[in-house]
Amino acid sequence: MLSSKASSNSHGQDSAYFHGCQVYDKNPFHEVENPTGIIQMGLAENQLSLDLVESWLRKNPDAMGLEKDGESVFRELALFQDYHGLPAFKNELVDYMSKIRGNKVKFDPNNLVLAAGSTSANETIIFCLADPGEAILLPTPYYAGFDRDLKWRTGVEIVPVHCSSSDGFRITMFALEDAYQRAQNLNLNVKGVFITNPSNPLGTTMTKDELNHLITFAMDKHIHVISDEIFSGTVFDSPGFISIIEAAMDRSLENTDIWSNIHIVYSLSKELGLPGFRVGMIYSNNEMVVSAATKMSSFGLVSSQTQYLLSNMLADKKFTSKCMKENQKRLKKRKKMLVSGLKKSGIECLKSNAGLFSWVDMRHLLYSNTFEAETKLWEEIMCDARLNISPGSSFHCREPGWFRICFANMSRGTLQVAMRRIKDFVERSSSSSGIKMSCPQNVSSLSKKLLSNWVCKLSSANGDEQER
Ligand SMILES: Cc1ncc(COP(=O)(O)O)c(C=O)c1O
Repeated sequence: MLSSKASSNSHGQDSAYFHGCQVYDKNPFHEVENPTGIIQMGLAENQLSLDLVESWLRKNPDAMGLEKDGESVFRELALFQDYHGLPAFKNELVDYMSKIRGNKVKFDPNNLVLAAGSTSANETIIFCLADPGEAILLPTPYYAGFDRDLKWRTGVEIVPVHCSSSDGFRITMFALEDAYQRAQNLNLNVKGVFITNPSNPLGTTMTKDELNHLITFAMDKHIHVISDEIFSGTVFDSPGFISIIEAAMDRSLENTDIWSNIHIVYSLSKELGLPGFRVGMIYSNNEMVVSAATKMSSFGLVSSQTQYLLSNMLADKKFTSKCMKENQKRLKKRKKMLVSGLKKSGIECLKSNAGLFSWVDMRHLLYSNTFEAETKLWEEIMCDARLNISPGSSFHCREPGWFRICFANMSRGTLQVAMRRIKDFVERSSSSSGIKMSCPQNVSSLSKKLLSNWVCKLSSANGDEQER
């Protein structure tokens, strides 16, 4: 009845990451109304600085009321439909992006393409660079939405670059070459390497060495580098953030081919906590890419009233400086609270300095070193501790036992409850009575489905990697 695209399941939405959210929706925790409900720790959402944005809105009613100097701009905005975007907004956006990068990189607003969030920006850039059946290399573990965003509708194959816990999941030249070789063995034409810096789910920024390896590799293979820098504004600790563009500038590559093969994706969803506003963008020094992406952006524009509101907000430099600083402070404090809470339960996290989550090592809690055991632990934590956390398999992690736990989408009090629950859970699971779990039927059958549908197929649709 449906098209093959509509009915294919290469979008990856049958992973535990998405299913966990469905289970949570049926019994959401509320401090007063439902204190035994499930706590949502699977959503990379930032609620820590929304009060700052709200306070700005209260002080600037003109921006919300679509007014300028006391006059309405409603008609102008209602009729505005130029897919190049509001010039004032793009000017503010490039300034803001520079500020996040310590003003070490200057961006030209003419090289910016607006999109309805990074979701749309990522798909658009892939549509611009690769044909169906061609391949993009993607370091693991990677954001669970990438199967949908990069692969599903574009028909492009994802070839994983396997990173390992033995070196903190860093991207090595060996791992890049290995992925490239596997793609060649499958007769896949590699068009680019796609990175997320800072990483989701790791919460780490890339080192200068990693960025240099990537640039050298891309130059050698004549391929693109796409850097999703959506978490660039969430870096709360040293070492600081280095954009791929800055790394290329440091090597004076501005007048070489690689300069026009580097593309950045970014959005206002994370540090400002505005995923509902759907504001994303592609930045590229490649005129052809900018032109093609602008045409494609017709399918996912940012509404003119959102552009108007945010251009006013970003133009308030005092506000953006304060917001950035305060946000970093709050994120750092929150992450510390999560890490020390987990430590009290004997659980360690990967050392990180960015993001809205920690990458948590629970390998010692698995009954065996398998993805079956990981799914079982996920199910127990969901049903017994009533915490929705995301297992590493949904991020295509190759090693069972890693989980992503989010800390910025809830109140401090809720995080305290979560830490108590995990402590109880660990104590009971190591005691002789163990966990006597009564999972709702829907969660148990879900786990079985996940194992057969998802965990075993860690890679591309052509099934080259049947890893466990
Ligand atoms: C790495 C990464 N890219 C893109 C997105 C999508 O973001 P947006 O809300 O801007 O579409 C997310 C959302 O979590 C993400 O983690």
